[in-house]
This record gives sequence, structure tokens and C-alpha cells, in this order.
Amino acid sequence: MSSALITGITGQDGPYLAKLLLEKGYRVHGLTPRRSSDNLWRLRELGIENDVDFVNGDLADAGSVQRAVASVKPDEFYNLGAQSFVAASWDQPVLTGVVDGIAVTHCLEAIRQFSPKTRFYQASTSEMFGLIQAEKQDEKTPFYPRSPYAVAKLYGHWITVNYRESFGLHASSGILFNHESPLRGLEFVTRKVTDAVARIKLGRQKELRLGNIDAKRDWGFAGDYVEAMWLMLQQDEADDYVIATGVTTTVRDMCRIAFGHLGLKMEDHLVIDPKFFRPAEVEVLLGNPAKAKARLGWEAKTSLEQLIRNMVDADMKRVSKETSC
Ligand code: NAP
Ligand code: GDD
Repeated sequence: MSSALITGITGQDGPYLAKLLLEKGYRVHGLTPRRSSDNLWRLRELGIENDVDFVNGDLADAGSVQRAVASVKPDEFYNLGAQSFVAASWDQPVLTGVVDGIAVTHCLEAIRQFSPKTRFYQASTSEMFGLIQAEKQDEKTPFYPRSPYAVAKLYGHWITVNYRESFGLHASSGILFNHESPLRGLEFVTRKVTDAVARIKLGRQKELRLGNIDAKRDWGFAGDYVEAMWLMLQQDEADDYVIATGVTTTVRDMCRIAFGHLGLKMEDHLVIDPKFFRPAEVEVLLGNPAKAKARLGWEAKTSLEQLIRNMVDADMKRVSKETSC
């Protein structure tokens, strides 16, 4: 039986990846930091809460990462844990730097010392392209990070490449463009929108306040993207891959899809609020996933329209179940 250790198993991507691996017959371990309140709702929604072996540990605590790797000696290690909200990275730049940057070295060092055959996946990001240097971004496009989050992730990306080249570790970096799902956190723009649209439809909310709706993103479905993570670790050689749909859409048009799905007019409810503008913006992202298609046989299966409709439907169900007061 193959085994995997996943950090960030309680986030959006972790449960989709865990489910995929469990279906493939893996034993799945999840590194979880101590939290004061229950955060297993996503694993519960996918019905796998009791199928994961939890290991206590925090990415910022090198010793705990070492103990996890030394005791599990996983075949595959997926590092998905992060402070992943870009806007919050200006409020907590040092913490973001430690967890999203330095802690990647904690993982790689633990593997190097205690389990060098473990294959490693690093959750890199299209945010590293930031102020884009090419119309369509691929593995060769120069990076230009625009937030403390992206700067930290860039460190994580290069230290992964460096440990591959220095020590021969099977360490791959997935440069994933935005991916969403009904399990997305409420602070991210797609889910903020789909939740608000459901609340407006059900009379629980009147307006939706957003920042820069001219920003463009290449949005895919998280369920499709975790498959690419797994595929990367099945290759003979470790490498870096852009994972994207190849289509970009404004926040405004994504919003229109969500309102339209429930027969609402966006213009009747949308308010632009300066509070949600960022100190430095990534105006547009558009990925070229040709290498992933050629080498991994991977391509996105879910359109943005399908994705947003699914998210709105999921939020309609959730909000309908809430007791109104
Ligand atoms: P997410 O929903 O924000 O989940 C982040 C996870 O990291 C949570 O399980 C969180 O645990 C955990 N975590 C935070 N601090 C930690 C620490 N100090 N030690 C251990 N775990 C910690 O993120 P996601 O959307 O699933 O994204 C997964 C990864 O892919 C992240 O690294 C993100 O930066 C990267 N990424 C995401 C996207 C995207 O569009 N979703 C695109 C490119 C790259 P708690 O639940 O306890 O807080
Ligand atoms: N969150 C949010 N809230 N974003 C808003 C809002 C708002 O009210 N109004 C406009 N936006 C714009 C942001 O300024 C940004 O340009 C865009 O919507 C997307 O914002 P997010 O959904 O927060 O995602 P992100 O692109 O900043 O970051 C996500 O994708 C990255 C990959 O490119 C995160 O998942 C990162 O962790 C990930 O690396």
C-alpha cells in the first residue's frame, strides 16, 4: 500500500487530494497544527474524515515536521499547507514568509535526512508571475511577485528546485493557477460571490461589496487540479509544471455568471468598496498548460460556468439550511 503525507489537509485542496489518493488505495496521513476550534468540515463534506490518519505538527515548527516524516516515511509528501490568502499577507508578512517560504525547507530537510526516497510536491502558484512578463505564462516565464505571499512562495519554489538539483530529491513544483470549488474559503472572491448570491436570493443579504472587479484570473476546478499534483509525482523525473485552463475572465464576468444563474441582476446588488483593493494588484493571469498536457496527459475538464453554477448551488443548499434570525 502506498502512503502519502499531506500538509494543509483541512484546506480546500487537501480533502480533494486525500479523497483521490484514498480512492487509489493510499494510506493518507495529514499533518495538522493544533487549532482551538473544529476545522474538519471539508473532510466531513467529502465523507473521508475517518479515513485519514492525523499527525500533529506545524509547518513553522521544523522538529514537528521532521518527526512526522521520520515516523510516516511516506512514499509521497504533498506540501499544501500555507497562509494562502494574498490580502492577509500584507497584514502578516513575516508569518506568511515563515509558513509559505522557510517551512518548505523544513519539509525538504526532513525528507533529505529521514526519508530521501519520498517524492515531494510543492504547491507553487501563478501569483509568482504577478506583474506578468508574457501574455500567456508558462514554466519559462520570468517571475515578478507582487505581494508578501508571492515573494514567500517564490522562495518555496526555488528551494524545491534547488534541493532537486543539489541532492537529487524527487521534488516537483506545481505552478497552479486559481482553482475553486464549493469547499473554497469564504474570503476568496469566487466563494464570497457565490455565497452572497445565495444569501441575496434567499433574502438574507442585500448587497455584495467587492474591490477590483477588472482583475482577470484563469480559474479552474480544484478537483481537476489535485489530479495534476498526483500525476507529477508519478513521473520518472521530477519537474515543474504550469496547471491552468488557458482561459482568463474578469471578476466582473465571473460575478455575472453567479448572479445570472439565480435569475438576479448583478448591477442591482454590487457595490464597489475601496476597502477590498490591494496595495499592489495582480491585474491579469492567464496560463499556458501545454507542458502538462504533453507530459502528464492532464487538462482541465470543468468550465468556469459549470464551476460557478456548482458553487452557487452548493451555497443555496447551505444557506437554506441555516436558521434565520
Ligand atoms: P487553503 O484552503 O487556505 O488551506 C491552507 C491549509 O494550510 C489549511 O489546511 C491550513 O490549516 C494549513 N496551514 C496553515 N498554516 C499552517 C501551518 N503553520 N502548519 C500547517 N498547516 C498550516 O489553501 P488551498 O486553496 O487549499 O491551497 C493549497 C495550497 O496551494 C496552498 O499552499 C496555496 O498557497 C496553494 N495554491 C492555491 C491556489 C488556489 O487557487 N487555491 C493556487 C495556487 C497555489 P487550518 O485549516 O488549520 O488553517
Ligand atoms: N478576495 C477578494 N475579495 N478578492 C477580490 C475582491 C474581494 O472582495 N474584490 C476583487 N477581488 C479581486 C482581487 O483583488 C484579485 O485580483 C482577484 O479578485 C482574486 O482574488 P482572490 O480570490 O482572493 O484570489 P487571488 O488571485 O488573490 O489568490 C488566489 O489564487 C492564487 C493563485 O493565483 C489564492 O488561492 C492564492 O493562494 C493562490 O496562490
